[in-house]
Amino acid sequence: MIIGSKIRLRDKRLADALDDYIWRTDPELAQLDTTPQLTTTFSRYLVDYAYELNYSSSIRRRFAVEMLDGKHIGNCSYYNIDETKGEAELGIMIGNRDYWDKGYGIDTVNTLVNYIFGQTNLKRIYLKTLDSNIRAQKCFKKCGFTPYGHLVRDGFSFTLMEITREQWQERQTQAEA
Ligand SMILES: CC(C)(COP(=O)(O)OP(=O)(O)OC[C@H]1O[C@@H](n2cnc3c(N)ncnc32)[C@H](O)[C@@H]1OP(=O)(O)O)[C@@H](O)C(=O)NCCC(=O)NCCS
Repeated sequence: MIIGSKIRLRDKRLADALDDYIWRTDPELAQLDTTPQLTTTFSRYLVDYAYELNYSSSIRRRFAVEMLDGKHIGNCSYYNIDETKGEAELGIMIGNRDYWDKGYGIDTVNTLVNYIFGQTNLKRIYLKTLDSNIRAQKCFKKCGFTPYGHLVRDGFSFTLMEITREQWQERQTQAEA
């Protein structure tokens, strides 16, 4: 369990499957996440879900985001982990809309970034978000990410953002002062 101020991160478990299915079949969330909207049945999804839970990957870590009382509100991850380059990509989805715009995204990203730089040797975390996703960009900026470029892929236009270990350390020092 990784504890933030308003949320905590924990390993994914089978009981998350229904929430995740609801979020993966939601057209707006699929669009914000630029992932195909899931069309499979829940029972089929559950079979794949159970299989994936038992499969640990060296290039990806996924966490459930839950309230301090245990309510599951979303997911986050770091993936495309490249030990040689010392970097990974960050992803987040607060799937439950009731929890948007209340600071849970910022706390989740800060908690995950603190974990990555505190517990791994990675030196850089990067991400991509739709140019139109101003909420996400504002959230990432508040967590110390800075824009470093643009990418157009599959008809989508993305803003690229990053934070380095040095920038994170600087923020830690400023927060302690
Ligand atoms: C993007 C996301 C992680 C942000 O988390 P959140 O908990 O909703 O947002 P937070 O409250 O932590 O911070 C968002 C900030 O953007 C602001 N904001 C929200 N909507 C906005 C909009 N349409 N335009 C400008 N600013 C906006 C909020 O006011 C807040 O700023 P503030 O702290 O100055 O008030 C979350 O909304 C989410 O997961 N959305 C669905 C999936 C998604 O977009 N994922 C990101 C893919 S890269």
